[in-house]
Amino acid sequence: MGKSVGITPNPSGFGASIVLESASLRSGNEVGQILDALHTYGVLYAYDQHLTDEELIGLASALAPIYVHPFHKLLGECPYPIVRLHTSARKRQVAADWHTDVSFSASPPSYGLMYGKTIPTCDSETSFIDMRAICRALPESMFNELISSGASHFLGTQGKIKREQLGDALYEYLCEQLPPVIHPAIRLYPPLDEPSLYVDLAHCNSIVNSEGAEKARLLKRVQSLIDASDQVFTFRWRPGAIVIWDQRCTLHRGSEKFLGEERLLLRIQMGSDAPESFVDMI
Ligand SMILES: [Fe+2]
Repeated sequence: MGKSVGITPNPSGFGASIVLESASLRSGNEVGQILDALHTYGVLYAYDQHLTDEELIGLASALAPIYVHPFHKLLGECPYPIVRLHTSARKRQVAADWHTDVSFSASPPSYGLMYGKTIPTCDSETSFIDMRAICRALPESMFNELISSGASHFLGTQGKIKREQLGDALYEYLCEQLPPVIHPAIRLYPPLDEPSLYVDLAHCNSIVNSEGAEKARLLKRVQSLIDASDQVFTFRWRPGAIVIWDQRCTLHRGSEKFLGEERLLLRIQMGSDAPESFVDMI
């Protein structure tokens, strides 16, 4: 038996701090404890880790297989598992709208991991929102309408930002190769067999019923509900800090308060699953 991992839930019950020792993840018991905590609390964080690239990759791949982004598959690239999210006076890499990564693909990543390499002295934050809690709090009529609906996710929904990041030609090629994909609006959260709202403010461009008819008012209502929610945990970055989150039951966004200052976050995505409808479970 390996030793136990120190896990301290936030008072809200969403998010938990963990005491991480990179070597401890050699034990399957400790990997299991971290995954159980991740599935219960949605987001885990630890400070003062100061891990090397190899240690980060080791930690990520102990939790789940490294995810290969569809952009790399389309471009025939063999990617390095770590993506460097670098923001400076000239380069802006902050996703400021509530989103879940790569939801515009058929099989988005299950988990995300970010590590603070260079952190500005002023506020630099990533916030997370608990979509299982939002789902539980939905008015019954809205839940019933959403459970039989699909949400369309498309790379092009954030056209202006993505064009800026990718350049016109690549952006247009990727939008053509990755047409809108419809996921269940309320998805099954597989680890706990719970429902979770799977709509975001960055990629979703419509909600449709089972006959394919668009429900523009419902999308607006759901997005305003997400925007107004207080089921939020805000993580303040420090150098050497690490955050791991479950993409299937949370949304996240970055703050732009630090823009103009240098920041470097390292990101690894892990696991992959095609969202299934919760309705099949009822
Ligand atoms: Fe993201």
